Amino acid sequence: MLYTIVKFGDPVLEKPAAPITVFDDELRKLVEDMFESMYAAHGVGLAAPQIGISKRVAVIDVSFKEDPDAKIVLINPEIIHTEGRLTSNEGCLSLPEFREKVTRPRSVTARAQNVEGETIEVSGEELLARALVHETDHLNGKLYISHISALKRDMMKRKIRKLVKQGEW
Ligand code: NI
Repeated sequence: MLYTIVKFGDPVLEKPAAPITVFDDELRKLVEDMFESMYAAHGVGLAAPQIGISKRVAVIDVSFKEDPDAKIVLINPEIIHTEGRLTSNEGCLSLPEFREKVTRPRSVTARAQNVEGETIEVSGEELLARALVHETDHLNGKLYISHISALKRDMMKRKIRKLVKQGEW
């Protein structure tokens, strides 16, 4: 099932999501649908609040279907280690058409659970590191625009307000 991606302005994107406590078929189905919805939207990461579900689930595939081993499911993730800094362009499916330079850690380790409820650790560098912190931020109600200057953020919000008025957001 394909979900519609929620855009900036929807309060679900800015509130902390609830922890997952039940690891059942419903959760497996949600994860499957999230991958499907992410690929359909041409994204490399998607958090459940972005489909209007305020739960701590995120999916990542920085290979975009190239490598089946690159599919990552993060349930109740927390960032346990970061190292270095890297500034690069970042976008978000909930802020379509926008990209901004964001400084993130160069390498990141996240601790999370998989769909079975087992504890896992995922480490990544560069794009994967960026995805790990970006998606974990989503589950804490935080968007990447909170990491850019207030000036840039206000400019972006003005453009979005205009798009909303034109019925294009
Ligand atoms: Ni995002």
